[in-house]
Amino acid sequence: MSTIKVAILGFGTVGEGVYRILNEKKNEIKLQTGYTIEISSIVVRDVTKNRIETPGIKITDSIQDVFADPDIDLIFEAIIGEEPAFAYLSKAISKGINVITANKAMFAKHGPALIKQAENQNVQIGFEATTAGGVPIIRTLKNLLQADRVQRIQGILNGTSNFILTKMRQDNVPFEVALEEAQANGFAEADPSDDIGGKDAFRKLMILSDLAFGRQPIWEDIQINGIDKIHSDDVSVATEKGLRYRHIADISIDENGIPSGSVGPVLIGPEHPLYGVDGVDNAIIVDTEYLGALTLIGPGAGMYPTASAMISDFLHIVGKREKVLIPS
Ligand SMILES: NC(=O)c1ccc[n+]([C@@H]2O[C@H](COP(=O)([O-])OP(=O)(O)OC[C@H]3O[C@@H](n4cnc5c(N)ncnc54)[C@H](OP(=O)(O)O)[C@@H]3O)[C@@H](O)[C@H]2O)c1
Repeated sequence: MSTIKVAILGFGTVGEGVYRILNEKKNEIKLQTGYTIEISSIVVRDVTKNRIETPGIKITDSIQDVFADPDIDLIFEAIIGEEPAFAYLSKAISKGINVITANKAMFAKHGPALIKQAENQNVQIGFEATTAGGVPIIRTLKNLLQADRVQRIQGILNGTSNFILTKMRQDNVPFEVALEEAQANGFAEADPSDDIGGKDAFRKLMILSDLAFGRQPIWEDIQINGIDKIHSDDVSVATEKGLRYRHIADISIDENGIPSGSVGPVLIGPEHPLYGVDGVDNAIIVDTEYLGALTLIGPGAGMYPTASAMISDFLHIVGKREKVLIPS
């Protein structure tokens, strides 16, 4: 039986989720693909931290341990920030190693370069998990683009913001109380500024723009607003009028092929497809030339939704194994 050897970079919420699914679904993956998965190493920042048992797997704080192994076929990357993630993935691709990432901050900025590099190297790159977690928007866009043209994408791309807006409306509480509840439930980070300030949704929008339109707008041209300026009185007045605040990231392309967009709170009525999307869910409307409008809704974050998006990329890449993987 052939083996696919992988490494996992990062062993927090997402990296551990990848490990768990690969372990739990070992037999199914073998049946489905014909390959045995071997996780050779896990790279973390602090090797002394208490973690779940990972028998037979080297836990290291050195990426060199991964690159020193000439048999690594694929890397799952779930670490934090642009660097060293970009440098690690770029080096992996240059060595012919397939990569799958969940790292949206890194991918929004460096995705176009990594995709180009991967194409040149005939290496596969998966990034489904960077945008809307478990909602399969990347695969859906790739499929749509084969025979159609995307004109506009609007999305609730940050579950934390949507949870807070939902709480403010349903429980009539101020922003700060709703944020505390999001943090208590594990939906918001200890430092939630990227979520509530709109930056997280902006990054995902840039990844979608690149895929849908082949380019990103100039970042500085995009107005980014968060939900942090919305007062509970604003929400009450909106509710009385039958309207709801949604934090919407919106991008479209003009007749000259120039993308433009915005990120911020928008008041919408019951006729809008995002009106009923409450809680931590993400939702995305894709408008295309021929299909019309398609809406996807689902869990946008969390261990299993995000890790399952990475495993879905993995199975897709393994499906192309004749071309891209040379099993040991
Ligand atoms: N959580 C989600 O629901 C979600 C959803 C979509 C995308 N993402 C993205 O997925 C990535 C991981 O998120 P997470 O929630 O799993 O984060 P996390 O729980 O904070 O875990 C991050 C992991 O990365 C490791 N790490 C950080 N910097 C490193 C470095 N320089 N070298 C080696 N390892 C490093 C940490 O090591 P230590 O354990 O030693 O600290 C930790 O294991 C992020 O880019 C995030 O934006 C997350």
